[in-house]
Amino acid sequence: MIVRLLYVSRSNGPQTTTVTRSILEQAQIHNAAQGITGVLCQGQGFFLQVLEGPRSAVNALYGHIAVDMRHKDVELLMFEDIEERRFSRWSMALIKLSDQDPMVKLQHPEFDPYSASGPPSHAAAVALARQQPAH
Ligand SMILES: Cc1cc2nc3c(=O)[nH]c(=O)nc-3n(C[C@H](O)[C@H](O)[C@H](O)COP(=O)(O)O)c2cc1C
Repeated sequence: MIVRLLYVSRSNGPQTTTVTRSILEQAQIHNAAQGITGVLCQGQGFFLQVLEGPRSAVNALYGHIAVDMRHKDVELLMFEDIEERRFSRWSMALIKLSDQDPMVKLQHPEFDPYSASGPPSHAAAVALARQQPAH
C-alpha cells in the first residue's frame, strides 16, 4: 500500500545551505533504501515536504521528521492512499522557492502552505517539480 503525506513546518534558525544539504544527504540515502520518494520545498522560513511510499515506512519517517530540531510547528496537511507516485524520479528533490518566487506567485497566487488546504499546496509542489532535472 502506497501513501502520500504532505506537511508544512517552520525552519528553526536560518535555512543555510549546510543545513539543507545535510537534510538532503540523509534523505536521499534513507529514502532510497525505504522506497520513499518525494520533494522538499524550501520557502522563506518554511518547509513543505511530500513523502510517498509504503505506508509503514512513510509513517516511521514522519515520526522522525516531526521531532527533528531543525524545524518546528510541523503540521500535517494531507495523508492519503495513492495509486501511483508523482515523484517517482526523486528519492528527495529539493525546490528552493526563493529561486522560484515570481513564478510561484504568478501561477499560484493563493500559495501559503499554512493557510491553504493540502491539495493546492501539493499541486504547487508537483508543478514546480516538473521543471526540475531528476536527481
Ligand atoms: C525539513 C526536513 C525534512 C527531512 N526529510 C527527510 C527525508 O525525506 N528522509 C530522511 O531520511 N530524513 C529526513 N529528514 C531528517 C530526519 O528528520 C532525521 O534526521 C533522519 O531521518 C535521521 O534520523 P535518526 O537520526 O533518528 O536516524 C528531514 C529533516 C527535516 C528537518
